[in-house]
Amino acid sequence: MTSLLLNASPHGASSRTFGMAQTFLDEHAKLSGDGEIIVRDLATFPLPAITSDYAAAITSRTPDPAHFALSEHLIEELEATSFLAIATPMHNFTVPASLKLWIDYVVRIGRSFASTPQGKVGLLKDRPSVVIVGSGGFHTGENARQPDFLTPYLRHALGCIGIHDVTFFLMQGLVAGSDAGERALAACRSDLARYLGRCVGER
Ligand SMILES: Cc1cc2nc3c(=O)[nH]c(=O)nc-3n(C[C@H](O)[C@H](O)[C@H](O)COP(=O)(O)O)c2cc1C
Repeated sequence: MTSLLLNASPHGASSRTFGMAQTFLDEHAKLSGDGEIIVRDLATFPLPAITSDYAAAITSRTPDPAHFALSEHLIEELEATSFLAIATPMHNFTVPASLKLWIDYVVRIGRSFASTPQGKVGLLKDRPSVVIVGSGGFHTGENARQPDFLTPYLRHALGCIGIHDVTFFLMQGLVAGSDAGERALAACRSDLARYLGRCVGER
């Protein structure tokens, strides 16, 4: 079994969300016997902007498959994995542009979802997925002072392609002083440990 880790934090190795996700996946691999972890760092190695050819192909009834090469590669990478982890900061209330681009390549009509009279139906198989979200301020709970367009949007986009088994872990207040940051990290660590315990118990 293979896991895919997507990172959308521009801080790379020093990102708290990326670090948390890497530690979690290492533990997950040890306990569940999962094999390879594929890491795709969307922030350090950004995907190219959507081209006119891709935009035309995605809305064409007779698309030229050559324009789907990158999209196909990313979808196949996702299809080949049985566990998905996404480490992402909140950027202006939603996902960073680097992660949005991945979504724009992977959520593709006729390939990862079908358009039906009842709406969009996912064509990829479901698999357990975790999303670790870091934010400078608070967007959930009694301290929330800003809207959260990240978690509902990402849940919907993943659900659109068939990935419904998604659990979000929030690390809020990461720029609200070192004590608040440490508390957020500790709470996330213990939530992930509980999640891992459940995963292993279910196998
Ligand atoms: C361009 C940009 C936009 C941001 N927008 C928000 C925001 O809307 N809400 C928020 O709480 N934090 C915002 N932040 C702060 C990041 O979410 C925060 O620093 C995050 O913890 C970084 O996590 P990381 O260390 O994993 O990259 C923003 C940061 C950047 C660089």
